[in-house]
Amino acid sequence: MRKKFVAGNWKMNLNASEAQSLAAELKAQFEVCENADTIDVAVCPPFVYLSSVAAALEGSTVELGAQDVYFEGNGAYTGEISVEMLKDVGCRYAIVGHSERRHVIGETNELINRKLHSALAGGLEPILCIGELLEEREKGQTEAVIERHLRKGLKGVGKEQMLNVTIAYEPVWAIGTGKTATPAQAQEAHEFTRKILADIFDEEVAQATRIQYGGSVKPSNAAELMSQPDVDGALVGGASLKTDDFMGIIKGGIPPQGDCSSCCRNCGK
Ligand code: PGA
Repeated sequence: MRKKFVAGNWKMNLNASEAQSLAAELKAQFEVCENADTIDVAVCPPFVYLSSVAAALEGSTVELGAQDVYFEGNGAYTGEISVEMLKDVGCRYAIVGHSERRHVIGETNELINRKLHSALAGGLEPILCIGELLEEREKGQTEAVIERHLRKGLKGVGKEQMLNVTIAYEPVWAIGTGKTATPAQAQEAHEFTRKILADIFDEEVAQATRIQYGGSVKPSNAAELMSQPDVDGALVGGASLKTDDFMGIIKGGIPPQGDCSSCCRNCGK
């Protein structure tokens, strides 16, 4: 069974002391969370706070991720950050191809693919974001966009390497808008994503790959979204900036222990 994976993307938010406090609070709350070992958790702070957040998380099982990474190893690339630098400050993961980088900064699938390859080659685990704009959904192009993002983003990636890749399906119309995809819409897109992964690689890779959902995930909808058979976790923006909300989401991803009578995580079962 795929272990659920919840990651917080702090985006361009917080100052140094807020970032440190948020990490320290999360560490403290996650430590006492029941069955914390049944879920993987990471936070992705802005680059400039990675070191201080790493220090605040020392000794915690909450992992560190970056919001982006550059594909070159070093040199004259003003403003960019390499895989080695991220590993040096304690990152395990790096988000690549977030929709804000695709649509605000203008990143292409080709650039995202190069970033993904360099992350994998250097031992970072990429979280590849995919997903359609509202106008693409309205024109019935959701599946075509998912397929294009997967085929181009994962071009040249080997089956073995896929063990270290997480996919995040994030419909752009649901990001930061408060409009969450319904559990059925998320499941449909995730099932399709898995089908394409099976076509690119094979059924085994498709079944082993974790696919997170992202887009206005909050404590009140997390459990139901993550109880869908193909939803293996969440990539959380806004709600990851408050410890209680993020912990509520994490708890929603922890598989119910025992029978339903002793648990009500509102999963809809
Ligand atoms: P949101 O962002 O949770 O604020 O919608 C999700 C994301 O962009 O990863």
